Formats: sequence, structure tokens, C-alpha cells
Amino acid sequence: MGDLRDWLLSNKFEQYADAFEANDIDLDILPELSEPDLERLGVSLGNRRRLLKAIAGRSSGAAPPKPSDPGASGDAERRQVTVLFADMVGSTALSGTVDPELLGNLIRRYQDVTAGAIGRYGGFVAKFMGDGVLAYFGFPRAFEDAAERAVRAAIGIMAEVGGIERPDGTRVQARIGIATGVVVVGEIIGTGTAQERTIVGETPNLAARLQALAAPDTILISAPTQNLLGGLFDLELTGEHELKGFPRPVPAWRVRGETLVESRFAASRTGDNLPLVGRAHEMGLMLDRWRLARLGEGQIVTVIGEAGIGKSRSIEALQEAFAGEPHARVHLQCSSYHSDSAFYPVIQHISRAAGFATADSPGVRIEKLGVLFARRAESDVAAIPLLAELLSISAEPAAPLSLTPAQRKATTIALLVDEIVRLGETDPVLLVLEDAHWIDATTLELMTRLTDSIGRARLLAVVTARPDFAPPWQARPHSTLLALGRLGRSECAQLVAGVAASHGLSAETVAAIVAKTDGVPLFVEELTKSVMESASGDSAAVPATLKDSLMARLDRLGEAREVAQIASVIGRQFVFSLLDAVIPHGGTDIEAALAKLVEAGIVFPDGRGSERSFSFKHALTRDAAYESLLFSRRRELHERIARALEERFSALTTSEPDLLAHHFGEAGLAGPACDYRMRAGDLAVSRSAYKEAIAHFSAGLGMADALPKPEERMRRQLDFLLKLGPALMVMRGMQSAEVEDAYRRAEEIGAAVGDSVATTRPSGACGSTPISGARRLWRATVPASWWRSHNDPATAISCSKPTTADGRRLFSEVMLRRLWRIAVSATRPTI
Ligand SMILES: Nc1ncnc2c1ncn2[C@@H]1O[C@H](COP(=O)(O)OP(=O)(O)OP(=O)(O)O)[C@@H](O)[C@H]1O
Ligand SMILES: [Mg+2]
Repeated sequence: MGDLRDWLLSNKFEQYADAFEANDIDLDILPELSEPDLERLGVSLGNRRRLLKAIAGRSSGAAPPKPSDPGASGDAERRQVTVLFADMVGSTALSGTVDPELLGNLIRRYQDVTAGAIGRYGGFVAKFMGDGVLAYFGFPRAFEDAAERAVRAAIGIMAEVGGIERPDGTRVQARIGIATGVVVVGEIIGTGTAQERTIVGETPNLAARLQALAAPDTILISAPTQNLLGGLFDLELTGEHELKGFPRPVPAWRVRGETLVESRFAASRTGDNLPLVGRAHEMGLMLDRWRLARLGEGQIVTVIGEAGIGKSRSIEALQEAFAGEPHARVHLQCSSYHSDSAFYPVIQHISRAAGFATADSPGVRIEKLGVLFARRAESDVAAIPLLAELLSISAEPAAPLSLTPAQRKATTIALLVDEIVRLGETDPVLLVLEDAHWIDATTLELMTRLTDSIGRARLLAVVTARPDFAPPWQARPHSTLLALGRLGRSECAQLVAGVAASHGLSAETVAAIVAKTDGVPLFVEELTKSVMESASGDSAAVPATLKDSLMARLDRLGEAREVAQIASVIGRQFVFSLLDAVIPHGGTDIEAALAKLVEAGIVFPDGRGSERSFSFKHALTRDAAYESLLFSRRRELHERIARALEERFSALTTSEPDLLAHHFGEAGLAGPACDYRMRAGDLAVSRSAYKEAIAHFSAGLGMADALPKPEERMRRQLDFLLKLGPALMVMRGMQSAEVEDAYRRAEEIGAAVGDSVATTRPSGACGSTPISGARRLWRATVPASWWRSHNDPATAISCSKPTTADGRRLFSEVMLRRLWRIAVSATRPTI
């Protein structure tokens, strides 16, 4: 902490040292502080900017990339980013008519307002280009709701720039384009104000084109952005547009405004809910607490579970369960970007309940408040002014309040608690507090006070939160903690079936989705949808709808993130010693990083084997970490892993050659990849695992394609084809087209490389006649010399055995079981 104080002192910001210290901020996390963070710490606007500059200067000076560091390739990575492009309308025309100094002032104000709105929603201003602003959401810091943040920032920009007056007396207008997509983000280049983070991909171009297309005061968004927003905003499709640089017409949506819904869950839904799967126990427990609450034994249930596990869905099911019963509802929704605004969920609820409209004057709002709180207003004259103040209604209070801020807060909390408890006098009350992990301190205080006051109230409070929230009311006798776990495999399959409905996914695809989604319903839904949308029915890639939230979890890891990325290249499971061998020493504290990954719930120690090993908790988190790596970096890491396996885990080269084949293959080293594929195929054949053998030989055949030298390439292909043939015969039968195809290709390649084994045409009886698959097989798998002396297969089989390993295997594995019977009949007509 002393270091931070010194740094603040040397930069003349010592006045903030106490605030930083009180919030456990140290030098290590300094670069991660955003403008809103600094605002929360009480840093003024000017100083925020100065501090951010000083922090950026410190980061670029203090942490030069280490040459041996795997991150030295510039920290560039692939990630999903939402790009916002905002431009001021008519500024070029203005430059001809207005004094440059005035124009400069105007542009500065415009930039300030725009950067302010972007900063409030966690965006990153990458560049000011005159009156144009380029900003990223989701980079350098990922947010699960990056697209939503970008649109909110855009709405904020529109509202605020409208307040700026131009020298000609008119109001400033803006156009905004927003697009989302996967881009390659690079390291910071330049210094000081010229500092810039490179970002490559079509997304920024699209955002710029949409911006140019937008009418004044309009926000246009791209299809992927629209897809991520669900029903959060009122959007209007403006049609498909021919845009320069884009081969096909691009659809664009205009943002008309926010949709007013009471919960984040309802807002993000576009279709109907699927029937609730499983959760019978949890529903039973909540319904039991509701029964007690109705009898006047107030209850609070805190539903804890990771993102997407089904907390909100369970509460929805609870509400559906007693929809027919008379009861009152209070819905408090916490917001990720209002964790510091006191009473935010309460203010939102009251505004909705009172029916405030945007155009309502303060007077009208006070009237509406009076109606909502009529009973209290009769007995408590201070109530309405207090509530009006809470809701920032700036009318003259009926009776001036002479309270200190602390008294005002205490009185407001007491009033609200009392109001909620009194609601239950008429009908039982269901109070839902959603997403308590984002709760502001004052609402938390209110909830704690409420919990202490509901012992005899007809009220059930249900609070949802992710696991990092510890409810202060946990120890109260009428409090229940309900941990939502993962769904079972069959429940997941049911969910897949529900989402895919008439789409009819194959059993294999369903199994692949279930395996990859680890019982998290959100993952199941999104992966199923993305498989249905992908033309190939492939479940390999992380769906766009999950990219942001998975990346946000990884971004919170700081330095440990890189260890997660390297581990992801090893696979979902990884042994410590291999990770240790792959990560260069001196740079990274692997133990500390792993401890952080475990603490963050990204990986968990896997106690199954004798080696110390770990597993990624979610396959999709592993995939997200892996997909964030540049292709070049993935190749580099795969090679490092393959070499480490060869050097330090040599037993694996014989017991798991497929593992080495995988890493060498992904590293782009076709030679060793082919060697190990061949070994893996042979191993499978030796275990009579022909299905696997076919997979290995086919993969090897594909891999051989990548060999640069034609001669070597063809010889490898021939090797694989000659192994593939017998294995295919066992699995598919002698006369199958695949067998025929394998030998036909073997013959062609053999002819091209002059391989006598495969190409010598039999002399005598069948020398010039067309030959069947069985004959090709025969010729291809025995040595030419042997073939020449025994040109009749029937005789050959009865009198002699071939001498090569392939020939012998053919005899023992195939001939004895099937060839005799089939080959003779199949080849008879041509002999
Ligand atoms: N048991 C279930 N049966 C059917 N669908 C479910 C079930 N649980 C969750 N879902 C669906 O999975 C998705 C994620 O669920 P939900 O939004 O309730 O998660 P959550 O735990 O509230 O996540 P967050 O922490 O992000 O709020 C939703 O679309 C929901 O409808
Ligand atoms: Mg939820």
C-alpha cells in the first residue's frame, strides 16, 4: 500500500491515498481502474482524466513485455467487441462559417459529453477523430452485457449532446453506429494522447458505415448486436443496406428507446418460456415458505447460483404457481451499472408502480406519488416530500425537510420498510429482489432492516444472487439459503429437445450439446440455438451470446487469465507438471495463478489421477479462453505442449500417441502429427478398435495433405490408405464403396510414386481384366514379388502367407474371418 501512496504522492494525487487504501486498491490493480471506478472513489472529472493518463503512462513504462514471456507476442487476442462510432451532424459545414476557436470549444464539449457517457457504461474511448468518437465495449475489459452497455451509452450521448448549443443557436445532433463481432485486438501502441489500441476486423468498419447511414439523432445497430439485446430495447428494422466494403446487403436496426419492463429476465426474453425442467425440490421448498408467509410468518429465501443456472426462471415458475391467488408484488431489480446509486431498485419500482411517464411534469409526478401512497400521506405529512426527494422530483417540497443526509436515509428506510410490511395487511406480499450481487449499499441496508421486521408479516422475500454475494441476513431464523445446482444430463437433453422443438437434432448432436454445457440451462439453450443456426450443425464454437459473459469471467482474473489460456490449449483437463513445463519460468507464478483460477471458480482441482491435475469447470469457459488466442499463438503453444510431452512424458508417446498427434497437428507440424496418427491407428488396430483406427488413419490421411514435399506427401498418404483399407473392410465389408475408394486412391498414388507393392499389375489370368475391390485389396496389401509368384488369390491363401506386417495383419484380421468366403465369390467372375 505504501508503494501506491508514494506513486500518488509523486503524481500529486496524494489527496486520494486514503480513499484508495480504504478500497483495497494497490499498484497491481491500478491499470484496471475505469473512469466510473474513479468517480466512485470521489475523484473529480479533471483529476479522473489526469489520473487515467498517469496510470496509462505508468503501465506502459513499468511493464515492458519480457522476451521469454509467452504474452510477448503483444497481448493481441481474438475477442468479441461491440464498437460504437459517434459523429456530430453538420460539423464540416459549421467549420466554414464559425470561428475556429468557437468550433474548437464546441467539439471539446461534444467530446467531453460523449466520453462521459461512454465511460459511465464501461466503454473505452479508443480514438477521437475531430468530432468523431470511436469506442469499444468489451475491450480492454469484457462485460457480459457489452452490447447493452453500448446502446445505453449511445442513448446517453444522444440525450446529452442535444443539450449543447451551437454558435448558430441550434442544438448539436449526433449519428451513432454500433456493431458487434469478433476482432483481433492488439497491444497499446503510441504514447500519451496518441496512444491507441489496435483493433482489426470488419466490425469497426461496419460501425462506421452504420454511423454514416444513420439520420441525425439516430442510432443504428448491426444484426449481431440486435441479437444480443433480446427485448431490452425498442428496435425497428430499417431494411437491408448496400454498404461500401460489404459484399451483401447489411440489415440495420434503429434504436427507438428502452423497453420498460420490471425485470432483466423478462426484458432479455424474446420468445415464450420453455416449460420448467426439473427443480421440483427447489419449487417445493419455495412454495412451503410461501405457505408460511401467508400465515403471517414472514420468510426470506436467498437463491444463490452461477449465471444462467436458472435463478430468475425458478422465480418466474414460483409466480406462475400462485398466479391465481390474490397477492401483492414488489419487484426490485438491481442493475450492474447502478451498484453505486443509492436506492436504485426501489426508485425504479416506485416509478413504475406510480406510473410515471417521461413527459410528466414534477407536479404530475407528485400527484401520482400521492395516489400511490395515499394512506400514508394522510397520517404522515413528511412522507411525500421524502419520497419526492428520493425520486429526484424537483418540485418545491410541501413541507421543507430539515434533516441531515444520515437522518434522511434512516427515515426513508424506515418509511419503505413500514410501507412494504403494511402492504401485507391486505394480501400476502411476494417481494422479489433480483441480482443482489449488484445491489447498492443503501438498498442492502433496507433489505436487512426489512428482514428484521418481517417476523409477523405476510411476506415472502425472494432474493436472487450469484455466488459472490453473501446475504447479511443469512443467520436469521426465518431465512433460507437455496443453492441452485446444475441440471442432470437427462434434464439437459429435455431442454435441448424443448429448444430444438421441430428442428429434430440427431442423438449425437444432442449428446454433444449436453456434454459441453455442463448442466447450465443458459449454456444449453444458447448452444442449441447456435447449433440450429449453423449450417453444419456443428457444436464446436462458443455461441456469440455467451462470448461476452465467458470472457468477462476470464477478464476478471488479471494475470491468471494467461495461465487459463495456456491451460486451455492443453485441454479441459490438465496436469500441473505439464502446465509447469509449458509456461516459461521466471515470469509467472503458476501456483498463485492456479489458486486464483480455483478461487474464481474457473477451474477446480481434479483428484482423480495420481498426478496433481485440474479441470476447467465449464467446457465452454475452456473454449472461450482457447478461442481468444490468436491462431499463431495457439500453434506456438500446441507445439510447446507436444515437445514437452515428448521430452518429459515419454510414456505417453506409446500409450497416448493420439494426444501427441492432436498437438502436433494443431501446431501445424504435419510430419510428426502423421507419425503419431499412424501409431495411434496401429494401437487401435492392435486392440481391434477398428472404428477408432479408421478415425486415426483418416485424420492422418487429411494431415498428410499438409506436407509440403509432394513425394513425402504421397508416400504418407499411401501408408495411411493401405492401413485404412483393411480396417474399413472389417467395419464396412469388402464390397463397400469406401474400401473400393481407399484402394483406388492407393493404386493411383502408388502409380504416381512408382510403388511396386500397390501398382504391379497381376500377370496371367487377370492381367488386363477389370478388377474388383477385393482384387485391388489383394494387390495392395501384399508385396509385389509375392503377388507375382502367386497370381491366383485362392491358391495363395491356401498355400502361403505374405511376409510383410501389413500382409500378415490382413491374413489374421480380415482373411480368416471374412475374406475367404467373400473374396472367392467376389473375384470369381474375373479370374
Ligand atoms: N429449469 C429450467 N427449465 C427450463 N429452462 C430453464 C431452466 N432454468 C433456466 N432455464 C432457462 O435458462 C436461461 C437462463 O436462466 P436464468 O435467466 O433464470 O438464469 P439466472 O440464474 O437468473 O442467470 P443470471 O445470474 O444471469 O441472472 C433462461 O433462458 C431460462 O429460461
Ligand atoms: Mg437472473
